[in-house]
Amino acid sequence: MTRLLYAMSCFTSRKMLFLMLFIFPSVLPLYLSADRNDRPVIGVLAQEVYAPKPNQTAYIAASYVKFLEAAGARVVPVMINQTLEEYKSLFNSINGILYPGGGVSIISSGYERAAKIFYELAIEANKKGDYFPVWGTCLGFEQLTYLTSGKLSLSHTNTSGVALPLNFTEDVKGSRMFKGFPAELMAALASEPLTENSHQWSLATLTYNTNEELKNFYKVLSKNTDGNTEFVSTFEAYDYPIYGTQWHPEKNAFEWTRPYIPHSPSAVKTTFYMAEFFVSEARRSFHRFKSVEEENKALIYNYNPVYTGAKSAFEQIYLF
Ligand SMILES: *[C@@H]1O[C@H](CO)[C@@H](O)[C@H](O)[C@H]1NC(C)=O
Ligand SMILES: *[C@@H]1O[C@H](CO)[C@@H](O)[C@H](O)[C@H]1NC(C)=O
Ligand SMILES: *[C@@H]1O[C@H](CO)[C@@H](O)[C@H](O)[C@H]1NC(C)=O
Ligand SMILES: *[C@@H]1O[C@H](CO)[C@@H](O)[C@H](O)[C@H]1NC(C)=O
Repeated sequence: MTRLLYAMSCFTSRKMLFLMLFIFPSVLPLYLSADRNDRPVIGVLAQEVYAPKPNQTAYIAASYVKFLEAAGARVVPVMINQTLEEYKSLFNSINGILYPGGGVSIISSGYERAAKIFYELAIEANKKGDYFPVWGTCLGFEQLTYLTSGKLSLSHTNTSGVALPLNFTEDVKGSRMFKGFPAELMAALASEPLTENSHQWSLATLTYNTNEELKNFYKVLSKNTDGNTEFVSTFEAYDYPIYGTQWHPEKNAFEWTRPYIPHSPSAVKTTFYMAEFFVSEARRSFHRFKSVEEENKALIYNYNPVYTGAKSAFEQIYLF
């Protein structure tokens, strides 16, 4: 009950709440069933740094944080190497999780271990009607293919540092992910190079077509090719709020160090419509921290990003 009340108070005045509770108690459950969490908190998974230093062993690129914040979410970093109990407690406190791109192992790393735990908790929760969305970008997309199929099913492609238009499939029409996109942005995405690719590994269409686990789990929304190998570039799960892009929606608005990152008005809109979609998914989750103090302690606001644009692919990163 307190959980529902907390969420409800997000957009209902106290007086209104009082009226509903004490004067119309019978309407309450009905009203709440159509509820929405307007204070979503989303976890962004950290990963090992390539060359660790004392107190600098893991990082999150700040663009993922800005991506979610721009659409009305707050962010908590999900640290690697935590205990299962700590992850379970965090899972029950946040409203979704994003697996960022990067360069660590998807079969044995702190990133992989945490991603697997949250993936399994999300599947279990969603089965019970406890909505919890998961998003994978680039490495996160690749991680999802491994978690769903239990095997490495990626092919080498020549796609490190290139912007591409999306080759949408027929299924994009009934998709959840692109439902809110304006028609002119969809047309731009299909014809202009608005999606930035920075990966050497891809889920080949041929592999997807012959892998029952992946085929039954994910609906392919777009494909791309490097000229030799056609690969899946966007998917959403049929029965779960699990989403992946092999490309980087967050970079268009927030990363400037590489010449192939598009910044046109349509490119920047792509960043915001994608963020809007995922944050709206998180608003359907009612997990919450046990107290405001606990929430405050967990938020990314407790950390300061550092400027790394001069020597890295990211303008700013959080180091932990
Ligand atoms: C690492 O962080 C701890 C706690 O924040 C601090 O006490 C310690 O001095 C730091 N060590 C280094 C080498 O910066
Ligand atoms: C995580 O654990 C591994 C293995 O114990 C260790 O090498 C690494 O430094 C740890 N990283 C962080 C960020 O705690
Ligand atoms: C890789 O793709 C780039 C264009 O993005 C092209 O210039 C280059 O020749 C390709 N390399 C190979 C080995 O195909
Ligand atoms: C887009 O996908 C269709 C169907 O798979 C394929 O026939 C077409 O060649 C693709 N177009 C591009 C530009 O890759």
